[in-house]
Amino acid sequence: MIADVVVGLQYGDEGKGKVTHQLAKNGDYTHVLRFNGGCNAGHTIYHEGRRFVTHHIPAGVFYGITSIIGPGCVINTAKLFEEIEELESAGINVSDYLLIAENAHVITDFHIAEDSKDKEIGTTRTGNGPAYRDKYARKGVRAEHVPELEHFLVDIFEELHLSSDVVVLCEGAQGFGLDIDWGDYPYVTSSHCTTGGAISCGIPYTAIRDVWGIAKAYETYVGAKDFEGDDPLFDQIREVGSEYGATTGRPRQVGWLDVGHLIRSSYINDVTKIVINKCDILDELKVWRVLDDENVVEFDGANDMEEWIDGLFPNAEVIFSRSPHEI
Ligand code: IMP
Ligand code: MG
Repeated sequence: MIADVVVGLQYGDEGKGKVTHQLAKNGDYTHVLRFNGGCNAGHTIYHEGRRFVTHHIPAGVFYGITSIIGPGCVINTAKLFEEIEELESAGINVSDYLLIAENAHVITDFHIAEDSKDKEIGTTRTGNGPAYRDKYARKGVRAEHVPELEHFLVDIFEELHLSSDVVVLCEGAQGFGLDIDWGDYPYVTSSHCTTGGAISCGIPYTAIRDVWGIAKAYETYVGAKDFEGDDPLFDQIREVGSEYGATTGRPRQVGWLDVGHLIRSSYINDVTKIVINKCDILDELKVWRVLDDENVVEFDGANDMEEWIDGLFPNAEVIFSRSPHEI
């Protein structure tokens, strides 16, 4: 088996959907595997000139690649069927390619009702946290026990380990700063957003070829904690960069790219490639700043900033992207 992994290096919304979609198009993948999260995620994908936002469904379906919702995910069954319907009515064949790990968990109405009362964390109110809590409390419901999902069920061991020439692209959701272990607890999601999350879905660590860490040229966060500083440029970045939640429509709080955080997330994920998205937004505002050890560092232009960032990662290829459609 060969596996590539796509992970978020910040707080989600870094552009993982775009990168996964492009890799699926150009690569030789037999499978795309979503390894964490559920319908809290919103992956924005431009496919053949049209904009899609996926929540559960891995980006492999756009290219007729077997797409698995992995054991680290939680599924809202009704929402999943809506999502299938939406993609199919736009001409994307989902039914023939979608598989669901029998040991993935489901989100129940009870989980949603409970999460909808959240005030402390600023969750997406999609029932994610309670579903994971019940999974770990050993009171959860697995996909294998939901009759509507039966048609899609698969055993990851049989699907990925008993066939030859498997090349799998692992699509992460959320990001390092929201990871249950590495994020800013308790302002986190309830799943494993790192490369480790892919491994625990049945991907042997020796199979991993590339880990694509995705970041933005600035940071955004949605949730209850105070994240945004008082620089008026953050308002401009939010508008020019359309920084509003793809799942909830909430305005995202903005900050400068924290390089200490980026280094940390890159090492813990063991990235080989780093994509810094939305460099065009800073270009448009003609401001190139990062946060280094809580100090704002200002650069004269994009080249200076990019050279400096590149120098921080001798072991990874750093790619600076300026297009919502491709790297
Ligand atoms: P939950 O995952 O709905 O429990 O939300 C926990 C935290 O993660 C909140 O701050 C959410 O805004 C954030 N979050 C969850 N999923 C995403 C995502 O896909 N993008 C960005 N933030 C997310
Ligand atoms: Mg998103």
